[in-house]
Amino acid sequence: MKLATVILAAGQGTRMISDLPKVLHPMLGRPLVLHAIETAEALTDEPPVLIVGHGAQAVQDVVGDRAVFVEQTEQRGTGHAVLQARPALVSRSDLVLVTYADMPLLTTGTLRQLVDRQRENAGPITMLTLVEEDPRGFGRVVRDESGGVVEIVEEAMATPAQLAIRELNAGVYCFDAAWLWTHVDQIPLSQPKEEYYLTDLIGMAVAKGRRVEAVLAADPAEALGINTRVHLAEAERVLRHRVNEGWMLAGVTILDPAATYIEASVSIGQDTTIWPNTHLRGETTIGQGCTIGPNTSVENCRIGDRCRVLASVLEDAVMEDDTNIGPFGHLRKGARLCQGAHMGNFGEIKNSTLGPGAKMGHFSYLGDAEIGAEANIGAGTITCNYDGVHKHKTVVEAGAFIGSDTMLVAPVRVGEGAKTGAGSVVTHDVPAGVVVYGVPARMRDAGEKESGNDKE
Ligand code: UD1
Ligand code: CA
Repeated sequence: MKLATVILAAGQGTRMISDLPKVLHPMLGRPLVLHAIETAEALTDEPPVLIVGHGAQAVQDVVGDRAVFVEQTEQRGTGHAVLQARPALVSRSDLVLVTYADMPLLTTGTLRQLVDRQRENAGPITMLTLVEEDPRGFGRVVRDESGGVVEIVEEAMATPAQLAIRELNAGVYCFDAAWLWTHVDQIPLSQPKEEYYLTDLIGMAVAKGRRVEAVLAADPAEALGINTRVHLAEAERVLRHRVNEGWMLAGVTILDPAATYIEASVSIGQDTTIWPNTHLRGETTIGQGCTIGPNTSVENCRIGDRCRVLASVLEDAVMEDDTNIGPFGHLRKGARLCQGAHMGNFGEIKNSTLGPGAKMGHFSYLGDAEIGAEANIGAGTITCNYDGVHKHKTVVEAGAFIGSDTMLVAPVRVGEGAKTGAGSVVTHDVPAGVVVYGVPARMRDAGEKESGNDKE
């Protein structure tokens, strides 16, 4: 049986108090709407139909070709919203699942249960319900003495007895497609808000003697809808906990899960330990046996096995196996620490490679540089890579020893095993094995050739 999904996302989200459409607010690094789309994608190959309204263009720009867009120009209720999908979906599927872009905690597992139940249901609707002590605005599920679902009553219209019901309508349904498309335009207009309520379909089916099934959500948090930034924070906390718990069960030690922020796109190897206030974001992979944090932010990085990252910020960088950084290191785009490299405190590396076993212990900057194996970059070394117009490259060959406070004025090359004295300003290439010093840097013995072509 072919399944189509409809995701409602037309509401304004007034209570977010924001210029950004509600469904574009990020949760754990991703816009809400993409959480809903990803959940739908896990259930069916059919692209979801996204009902957009407020901020339609902005939503389309973010979602791209991952959904079919249908615009609901006037928000006249959830029933009216689903009706908009009819031209796109009629005769295109056997089942239709309806979800919301502002309900990011729904899991694929729960929705699959709902769909599977509807596959076996002779009636036209299976709905998702939850039991909650705090019914906060949910429609109440009214059942008869035999336990069959009779209708959904919205909070504003419920009798005191109905208000006391604690089985609530999540608002998520799986429909028999043919039944849905022949009935969704027959929903009566509800007063006083003059809206067409999707929930009325339940009463309509029952009135015609059809059975409505319900699946109870194992965790009521799944039905949390985001209406304010308070809800957003609440939902993010739940999602973060799920992600962290998944990694702990996969062999990662997380000292304080409540203070550890791992996006769903990250992967972490066994026996790695994550200290508090660590943020792991984007396309980041971390190997086995690493120690990350505390106070660390890693985005779009590849970190190998047995690495140590302490109080540092890493972006678009690579750390090979057995490397370490920090405290207070900064790896920027294109930085690479090769196997066994060490980077101590207050260093910054951009678009540069620190070769195997190379060391850069104390406050240095490497930009557009290639540092050879086992080289030593002394405290305060700076690559002067920018002349105000262009960036230039610095090469330090294997085993070179760059003395403290050396300025490497690029483009420049320091040969294998060469040394620079403390405070040198290196403006010309240094041949392998020699020692240069001074400003500008020159070779040690008077009368011998200076470094490069400088003549005095
Ligand atoms: C709805 C259900 C309620 C259920 C609750 C769960 C109805 C009438 N009520 O109430 O029983 O307990 O969800 O959260 O369905 N939307 C559109 N276009 C519209 C109207 C709404 O796209 O014309 C979208 C909104 O952006 C929102 C969602 O549908 O994401 C829910 O709409 P809302 O009006 O907030 O319904 P609830 O009052 O939450
Ligand atoms: Ca709502």
